[in-house]
Amino acid sequence: MITTDTFFGGAPEVNASAPGRVNLLGEHTDYNDGYMLPVATPQRTVVAMSRSGDDHFHFYSPNLDATVTFARDGSPPQGFGSYIEGCIRLVQAEGVDVPPLRLYVETNLPVGSGLSSSAALEVATLRAMRSLLGFELDDVKLARIAQRAEIEYAHVNVGIMDQMASSLADESNMLFIDARTLEHRLVALPAGTELIVVDSGVARRLAASKYNERRAECEEASRKLGVQALRDVTDPDSVESLPSPLRERARHVVRENLRVLEAAAGVSPERFGELMNASHFSLRDDYEVSIPELDELCAALRAAPGVLGARLTGAGFGGACVALCRSGHAQDAAAKALADYNKLGRQGRVLIPVSGSGSD
Ligand code: GLA
Repeated sequence: MITTDTFFGGAPEVNASAPGRVNLLGEHTDYNDGYMLPVATPQRTVVAMSRSGDDHFHFYSPNLDATVTFARDGSPPQGFGSYIEGCIRLVQAEGVDVPPLRLYVETNLPVGSGLSSSAALEVATLRAMRSLLGFELDDVKLARIAQRAEIEYAHVNVGIMDQMASSLADESNMLFIDARTLEHRLVALPAGTELIVVDSGVARRLAASKYNERRAECEEASRKLGVQALRDVTDPDSVESLPSPLRERARHVVRENLRVLEAAAGVSPERFGELMNASHFSLRDDYEVSIPELDELCAALRAAPGVLGARLTGAGFGGACVALCRSGHAQDAAAKALADYNKLGRQGRVLIPVSGSGSD
């Protein structure tokens, strides 16, 4: 493994970082122009950056122990370099003169657990470039460029939630986001609660193809209902005339948006937990993006003392579950749920609360 001292031949010119995200409510709503409530993770990605001083870009990841080098006008091979290249090329397209750079990218975010390590990489890269090169870029525009980097350079057709959360959320509040207007505001967690996040140990499989299939189904449902996006449907009964499975997909999105709006207006901890459970059941039964392991893990979390509600978080088909729990109970409840889940032969691990020795 190469150290930053060796990589830069001294100290880097700038350092920047960005968190991942855990979404508490509002899943598969962002590409329907809807609403969501993510929080930032304590785990972060750190980008150290300097001008390279030669004609090449050089990226190094100690996590992967991998180096990527490419010429000023070239491209890196697909991999973590694509996300960074996307950020660089899109900032250049904004008219900024970006010289060849050296980046040292380190993270304690788990990759593949659905906590948006890719958004953290994009946002940290853009923050480092903004600080090194001194151009103006507000945090919402930064999130939009990060999203475009992922879509156009890493070829993953994501919505705006992860990049907005990484750019604007913090760890102790939820960030209410309206994906159509990008209006956003911090909303306090229900009083006297804290979060648990447990990785199911199942890598997300089929996620990309099923994600694109769900997006297409939502677009078709909107066309049939004569609306621009499912966000424009506010009466949940109006989806019941659609043919299956469009009916179920639209039912999830319309009701999920209502759950977010109710939660963002301020509800009791118990009600917030109920909304999370309802979200999970809707993702399982109507949106069909859960898998048995995520259902088992949520059940184990709900059975733990102090837990008010639990659901899968992120796109589904693997990754992590999030639970809301009464303050002071998270450590014990997470340990109990993990033990119950792993008894089934699974390989889960607690991501939040972060253990004393640091995460990962
Ligand atoms: C992934 C995408 C987000 C969002 C979620 C589902 O995390 O990156 O844009 O669509 O899935 O809510």
